[in-house]
Amino acid sequence: MENREDLKSILPYLPLLLRSSTLFWPPQVVEALKAMARGPDHSRVDSGELLFLAISDLRNCLCLSSEPLAPSTPQGYALFFDELMPRVESVKWFREVLPVLANLLLQFPSLLEAHYQNADFIVNGGRDEVRTGLRILDSQEAGIVFLGQDLIAALLGCSLFCLFPFSNRGAKYLPMINFDHLFVSLYEDYNQKQENKIMCIIHYFERISSYIPVGLVSFERKILALEDHSFYVSSLNDDFWSKSAIPLCRFEVHNSGLIEDQSSGAIEVDFANKYIGGGALHSGCVQEEIRFMINPELIASMLFLPCMEDNEAIEIVGAERFSNYTGYASSFRFSGDYVDRRDVDSFGRRKSRIIAIDALCNPRMRQYSTKFLLREINKAFCGFLDQSKHQECKKLLEEKGCSPVLLHMTALTSTERIEREQANELTRNSGKDCLSVVEEDNIGIATGNWGCGAFGGDPEVKTIIQWLAASQALRPFISYYTFGMKPLQNLDKAAQWILSHKWTVGDLWNMLVQYSMKRLGGETNVGFFKWLLPSVYGHDVGIMD
Ligand SMILES: *[C@@H]1O[C@H](CO)[C@@H](O)[C@H](O)[C@H]1NC(C)=O
Repeated sequence: MENREDLKSILPYLPLLLRSSTLFWPPQVVEALKAMARGPDHSRVDSGELLFLAISDLRNCLCLSSEPLAPSTPQGYALFFDELMPRVESVKWFREVLPVLANLLLQFPSLLEAHYQNADFIVNGGRDEVRTGLRILDSQEAGIVFLGQDLIAALLGCSLFCLFPFSNRGAKYLPMINFDHLFVSLYEDYNQKQENKIMCIIHYFERISSYIPVGLVSFERKILALEDHSFYVSSLNDDFWSKSAIPLCRFEVHNSGLIEDQSSGAIEVDFANKYIGGGALHSGCVQEEIRFMINPELIASMLFLPCMEDNEAIEIVGAERFSNYTGYASSFRFSGDYVDRRDVDSFGRRKSRIIAIDALCNPRMRQYSTKFLLREINKAFCGFLDQSKHQECKKLLEEKGCSPVLLHMTALTSTERIEREQANELTRNSGKDCLSVVEEDNIGIATGNWGCGAFGGDPEVKTIIQWLAASQALRPFISYYTFGMKPLQNLDKAAQWILSHKWTVGDLWNMLVQYSMKRLGGETNVGFFKWLLPSVYGHDVGIMD
């Protein structure tokens, strides 16, 4: 089998066995799955209660009984399938959906083998030797994994059946991946939002049972190098931000609507937990968790992406949306099927591009210190930056014999932009330059109140940080969804005022730092916009006359 190293890193976290280069299920598991695949008349699995017994048997065959599931897991499955789900629906689910799922699990070993056989050829036909095989994408290692939607469905089937070994996950800073706690939370603290979360997941399996999608989903660990690095852009310091001459990008404010409904093709921000997925598989139900319920393929990231550090972000491209919903947190409700009509890129990935960045949790006053402003802005910058464009620019630069001192694509392209404008040689430049590399297929950022709800960040400061990071990453625009947040009522006015003054990233960063120092020192306690624009926000000391 190809990609032995990749398989070796993930094998301890999978329920499969490996012998003589072949992946397989233990024979008793195959027998049990085969019976289940023939339907309830053969397997007798026609209720939540019996499903859990079948799960226990499978786990025993996999020698997982030494890792007991939470005590009320059986009651959780029984409650959902036998009491909450209408009987007609559950009959249908056990007759029609479960057998397909069992069949898919039977194919899991061969799907995975096929995955490893293709993994070297996904990017550029293999010419660039980009590894894409399923493996642990460890902290401080940039890398990408491409998974087929069929393989993801099999992985999520393993989660539903709680088949992933978990005793070795904590030490590796990996989140839990089985669905037991999803059901335990339902039973131990019954509430409708938890029921509706599970409805989204069950609906996903329903959809899979009628048609298994054929696209790919990519999962990438992005890093900003901690020190100057010849290949990767590194974290930027105060000095760099304060001197950045990059113009601010466009800023659009949406006082209604949701990030995931945008249709501009923008990258969508996942207000993530440092453990990707956050409480998705427990009782959590805010922005990140909701996204993981309506696009369940995102959950696959939790299998192999350990906790994010400060200089890291995760980008997931191609996860399909299956469910519609209403509400938020305790009012969250599944509201039926959703057909994802986004088109597909050259890799076969749906153009659904999600960036997971984790904000500081409960930062209180320290969020105004430069150290933590830098932590947040570099986190967002890491997510928003396209490192591959930077690398392409670097190559172009070397070919032109230009100084390799210009490490940052961003500094480089703004110089180029100015040169181009000055020399007005746009038309004479026939060869590719960095600016055209940046502008090719460049998409904006759709975001909102990142790190502000449960995480307790200052919404005005976070808004500015994201705007600066997106501008520095040379994104063409930010589409900001305020979700009706009060302090952002006049966000549009403030943003337009700032844009009309043609500030650079450095100018706005310096204002933010100045404000934050005053805030930290107790010299002001108003929000950033009121401080900056007293005439718009009411009278107070500020810079606008
Ligand atoms: C999703 O639900 C919303 C709110 O109920 C509704 O307006 C919208 O049309 C639905 N979308 C789809 C694609 O069903």
